[in-house]
Amino acid sequence: MQFLLITDLDNTLVGDDRATFTLNQKLTAIRHSCTLIYATGRSYTSAQHLVHTKQLLEPDYWVTGVGTEIYERGKLDRFWANEVSTAWDRRAIAAIAQTYSELILQPQSEQNPWKISFRLDQADKSPILDNLRAQLSKAGMNYQIVFSSGRDVDILPSNADKGLAARYIRESLHIPASSALACGDSGNDISLFQQSTLGTIVSNAQPELIDWYGQHRHPNLYLARSPFAWGMIEGLQYFNLIAAQI
Ligand code: GLC
Ligand code: MG
Repeated sequence: MQFLLITDLDNTLVGDDRATFTLNQKLTAIRHSCTLIYATGRSYTSAQHLVHTKQLLEPDYWVTGVGTEIYERGKLDRFWANEVSTAWDRRAIAAIAQTYSELILQPQSEQNPWKISFRLDQADKSPILDNLRAQLSKAGMNYQIVFSSGRDVDILPSNADKGLAARYIRESLHIPASSALACGDSGNDISLFQQSTLGTIVSNAQPELIDWYGQHRHPNLYLARSPFAWGMIEGLQYFNLIAAQI
């Protein structure tokens, strides 16, 4: 059976080297029947660097920049780039967001044509994000705000996130949602769990994802008892995608 494994990198596949190694071995044994997607907030360059340093398996697809970009065999998916460009006014959104002094712009390397990323270190974050949302909506902008790890603020086109990018790939491969498993640990993974695929949340997940799970429990979603790639192995076994003994 062909199945699709969609996984976040930082603090999911990566975080415990022994767990990553053990999962890689299991996946190598069944690589022919598994299509692998890495779905990360990192830029493509930064994700590639992590894959090399942590000796991760080469994926079939890279969903980078929180779903704003898709790469296959080193090439940006132009169709997706076109899709997410529709009605996206980066310049106008950036101009509004930059008037918020609490939002600290992330390094240039983490910005891309469809992603404006900030850090928000303020203790009381919701009023700032609520105001920003209200202002962007009032200005008629096409956007969504993704909040992760208690401090990362990504502003993206409303039709670009990890979940939508993964669905686009899955549908192009004609793999049913019931044969796809998404794994993650933080806010930018919520969109993965909003698709109708199976999902595994690793036990070290961030509060924003645990809170979301508390409100969206579903038989397709599994909260693992173990952290990092150990939790992924648990999820793969829970959904019978890999045998318990391998
Ligand atoms: C990664 C990206 C960063 C983003 C964060 C959350 O850390 O490098 O730009 O804000 O993921 O999506
Ligand atoms: Mg993560």
